[in-house]
Amino acid sequence: MKGVVLAGGLGTRLLPLTRVTNKHLLPVFNKPMIFYPIQTLVDAGITEIMIVTGGNNAGDFLRLLGNGEDFGLNQMHYTYQKREGGIADALALARHFVGDDKVVVILGDNFIQGSIRNAVEDFERQPEGAKIFLKEVPNPHEFGVAELKDGKVVNIVEKPKQPVSRLAVIGIYLYDNRVFDICRTLKPSARGELEITDVNNDYIRRGVMTYEILEGWWADCGSFEALMRSNLLVARENGVDL
Ligand code: DAU
Repeated sequence: MKGVVLAGGLGTRLLPLTRVTNKHLLPVFNKPMIFYPIQTLVDAGITEIMIVTGGNNAGDFLRLLGNGEDFGLNQMHYTYQKREGGIADALALARHFVGDDKVVVILGDNFIQGSIRNAVEDFERQPEGAKIFLKEVPNPHEFGVAELKDGKVVNIVEKPKQPVSRLAVIGIYLYDNRVFDICRTLKPSARGELEITDVNNDYIRRGVMTYEILEGWWADCGSFEALMRSNLLVARENGVDL
């Protein structure tokens, strides 16, 4: 299975921190943000990884990550997203890299405490479809929100004003190869982006979506509060008493 880390976008919610650098190069405790999702993939046994980035600071990713030596890798793959076309637009750029394989996609600003290794191994055996991870949160309106019925995900709504549950869809997605065909059918949403939630709803409609409830904490870095919280969680994880 291939791994793709999505690190494009403009990070406008974090201005002025992102005026001269990419969001995913900002520090989270003692490492640049992007180190954590890469490590999550490596810990899950993924050794072929592509970074999708964009903007003016794309070259800094090469300087920072090189061929992935910090993670025990021999090679790191890169591609460039020319505009902020959305998460599914960024993923579509990895098509040739993924080839006929399955893929685990992780958003470059998402952190998890635990491991996804078992889920990745289960997904290797899943004949087709996709797998997502859900986490109960106090602020579901800020995320994709899943509706469950009879033990299945029946719908996901992106940032709903009135969420039907507290189950956020976290930014780690496991897909079979059909994902690239689905990306090509998408139309931009009201915010002008190709939405990963539309990809996931396509799999749900076909009846081939599985899910797991994520153990341990999950954080993203989309806002100042979330970035601060991620720093605190990671620092505590490293034994720092703040
Ligand atoms: O954090 C989980 C949430 O991430 C999910 O619950 C939502 O369903 C999903 O849409 C996403 O929501 P956000 O609005 O927080 O996504 P954001 O625009 O912040 O993008 C998340 C990451 O995706 C970002 O760190 C880099 C990557 N990205 C994003 C865009 C818009 C790209 O690589 N290219 C892009 O054009």
